[in-house]
This record gives sequence, structure tokens and C-alpha cells, in this order.
Amino acid sequence: MTQIIDGKAIAAQIKEELKEKVARLKEQGTEVTLAVIQVGADPASSVYVRNKKNACAYIGIRSLAYELPEETTEEELLALIRELNGREDVNGILVQLPLPGQICEERVLDAICPGKDVDGFHPQNVGALCIGRPGFVSCTPAGVIQLLKRSGVEIAGKECVVVGRSNIVGKPMALLLLRENGTVTVTHSRTRDLKEVTARADILVAALGKPRFITADYVKDGAVVIDVGIHRNEDGKLCGDVDYESVAPKCSAITPVPGGVGPMTVAMLMYNCVESAALQQNGKVS
Ligand code: GUN
Repeated sequence: MTQIIDGKAIAAQIKEELKEKVARLKEQGTEVTLAVIQVGADPASSVYVRNKKNACAYIGIRSLAYELPEETTEEELLALIRELNGREDVNGILVQLPLPGQICEERVLDAICPGKDVDGFHPQNVGALCIGRPGFVSCTPAGVIQLLKRSGVEIAGKECVVVGRSNIVGKPMALLLLRENGTVTVTHSRTRDLKEVTARADILVAALGKPRFITADYVKDGAVVIDVGIHRNEDGKLCGDVDYESVAPKCSAITPVPGGVGPMTVAMLMYNCVESAALQQNGKVS
């Protein structure tokens, strides 16, 4: 029987744990606060931002919403980030991506104080992950690790294959699996004979961004398959990077889309915010 990894339930469990921590911090005089910045009104971004604000409200995190017009200049955005960096009552700063063309994403992400970079996108946090130092980890791959651990999937010693090498998912995913002592291979669009590589995986993470690309012939019998993709197919239904119908019967465990990795991203963002507040309260970061 294939285990369906219930991301919604695991995310809910994490949020309950965080609710208690937030209440405890409040008793000690710290109100966990996340600043969420959106530039323009991209409809997908608006949905993500709303989900993040709702999760904050549920857990008891104060969210400060900055909805800036599409024509905001880079300098204006950088000025806001500098102001938020300097505010003691702000624990986390999140700039929703993508940004309009006139703003350089790299300069904006670099401007966020690493101790408040709850998205884990700042080069200092990426570097810390790479060399095993403490720091914020990108939320989606951190969520995948939680899904595996909380579903009883052992990572140490396993053949882990990550399909996709983006800065937000593929690369940090590979580093996290390595940190858990997996044997890790990263594949990408130039990989020769992809099927031969993915068919070796005990744990296969699909993060390539192509709807239902990973079919049964890419997957070993009994593998654990994690689907990071999310797409809308021709008839408006959500699907992932994995062809769920053909792959699920072959796996020992699989994440569905929706209800797999998706809910974990927001849960881990909340986790990072709480962690940030706790560290700032203890004076470990400024
Ligand atoms: N846009 C798409 N995914 C993300 C994310 O995880 N964080 C931010 N800030 N923007 C995004």
C-alpha cells in the first residue's frame, strides 16, 4: 500500500506547535512580527501573500503588510527594507517575488538583514547552509525535510535524487538532504539519460517545473516521491511535476498535489519567523 504523505495535516501540526511557542514568547514580552512586502498586484503573488497573512493571524504572529504600487522604484523599496532592518519590533522581512522589471531582485534580497531573512534567500544564509552553520533555510525544501521526517522516512544513507537546480528549491534541497546524510545527486535540463539516474533514487524530489513530467518509468519500485511542482492543467485542475496516477502505485510513499509540499512552505515560513524572534530575544542576532 502506498503511503500518501498528508502535507496539510503535517503543516497543521507544525502550526499548532508554533501557536504555543508564539504564546510563550508573548508572555515573555516578545510579539513575533513579520513584515510582508508586495510590489504590484500579480494575482498569484496576491494569493500567496494572503495565505501568509492568514497563517500569521492563525498562529498569533503580527503581520505588517506593505502593498506598494507596481511603479515603485528600487531605491524606494531599498529604503523601506533599511527601515525594517533597523526596527527592533520586526523579526522577519519577506519580499514577495517576482518583482517588477525596474527592480533588481538580487540587490533587494541582499539588502535584507540576514537575521531577518525568513525566506532564507540571502547569500549569507545560503552560504551558512552550504557549510553547516546555523541560518535560515529556504521554506519549501525545509518543508520537504519535515514531511520526510514526520512520515518516518529515514534519509541517512539513502540514494536521493533531486530533479531541478533552482536557487529556491533544487540547490538548498540537495544541501539539506546531504546534511541529513543522504547520498545526493542533482539533475537538470542537461543531464544525460535522466530516467537512468532517477530510477536509482530511494527518495526522488521532483522540482523541475514541468507538469506531470515524472512518469512511472522514472521511478524505482518502492521509492519515496516528493512532488514540489504545482501547475494548472487544461481543465483547470491542479497537478504537480509527477504523473501521480501512474507513479503512486509504484511508490512506498508519495506527496499529492494539492495537499503535499504546498502547505509546508507557509508552515516553514512561520517556523522561521518564530525562530527569528526567539533568537533576537536571546540576543543571538541583531
Ligand atoms: N515567490 C514564489 N515563491 C516565493 C517564496 O517562497 N518567497 C517569496 N518571497 N516569493 C516567492
